[in-house]
Amino acid sequence: MEKEVKILAIESSCDETAAAVVVNGRRVLSNVINTQIAIHTEYGGVVPEIASRKHIENINPVVIKALSDANLTFDDIDAIAVTYGPGLIGALLVGVAEAKALAWALDKPLVGVHHIEGHISANYIENPDLEPPFASLVVSGGHTHLVMVEEYGKYSIIGRTRDDAAGEAFDKVARAVGLGYPGGPKIDKLAREGNPDAIKFPVAKVSDSVYDFSFSGLKSAVLNYLNQAEMKGEEVNRADLVASFQKSVVDALVGHAMSLVDEKGLKKFAIAGGVASNSALREAMSKACEERGVKFYRPSPGLCTDNAVMIGSAAYYEYLAGTRHSWDLNAQANLQLGEKVEGVKR
Ligand code: KG4
Ligand code: ZN
Repeated sequence: MEKEVKILAIESSCDETAAAVVVNGRRVLSNVINTQIAIHTEYGGVVPEIASRKHIENINPVVIKALSDANLTFDDIDAIAVTYGPGLIGALLVGVAEAKALAWALDKPLVGVHHIEGHISANYIENPDLEPPFASLVVSGGHTHLVMVEEYGKYSIIGRTRDDAAGEAFDKVARAVGLGYPGGPKIDKLAREGNPDAIKFPVAKVSDSVYDFSFSGLKSAVLNYLNQAEMKGEEVNRADLVASFQKSVVDALVGHAMSLVDEKGLKKFAIAGGVASNSALREAMSKACEERGVKFYRPSPGLCTDNAVMIGSAAYYEYLAGTRHSWDLNAQANLQLGEKVEGVKR
């Protein structure tokens, strides 16, 4: 029988303090998330200093709960995993310090995980059949990447955003129309009452690349529309506006993804990241994949947004590949996908 590897994983890169225990990268024994959304909502976005302070308050109770929910003690754990980048530096530091302290005190291996690798790996949890190679679209608050997952831990970036991330565009437009933070889920909900064809916004694209994205032009078009309506004293139908904006984002994401699928004749496609919980994107991507006979994977909405289960999954494959980090592992705010820090022993 395959040896069971139980990983205690920690995630604190933004405004969620999370810990989880995952067996062999796929079986979830616990999943604890303490979200700070209510605190940051007051400020209209994540305040990094407040996020770091809250992580410090929350990290120990969250880790202890992850162990007790799994009915385990520290002795049962085979390795400690943690997100070390990219993200808010002060927020990342709290998780990294916690993981290093635990790994040192318990004499367990330490495995640092890339946050985006975590998001992609969220797809492994509910899909036991999913294995690389496959293509993935990672859409979060900080990232918009079209990626080929060549093998576990090995990624080729095919396209990326030149300016705003998709989630950032959702958050900025939500703020402009007065929906507040976090914008994505609020736009998703309001858009269901609107007509996506009411306003023709430009489809977000880059002229010199089939696979790169650009969302700043679309965001400006929405802001211009709002300003002009205000100058003319016209009432704006917010549901139509956000539905039309969302359609433009979804068209760009699905269009780029399917160009890659068609060009390479791919058979498996997975979405990941907070924006992957968007209902219009899930529906459009599912339809486009079905039309092509491509198997479509998407994590449940709760596993799309930040969590530690996805970190435990990605960590397992790093662990199997022999990744062990040393005590000089540090938080890296701008870590690129595919980049690994010094101190990795294989
Ligand atoms: O992956 P995530 O939790 O954190 C980052 O790594 O950035 O993603 C957060 C982003 C935010 O921009 C949020 O507005 C967006 O994901 N988001 C959504 C939805 N739920 C979260 N965007 C569109 N529709 C949603 N339902
Ligand atoms: Zn994330």
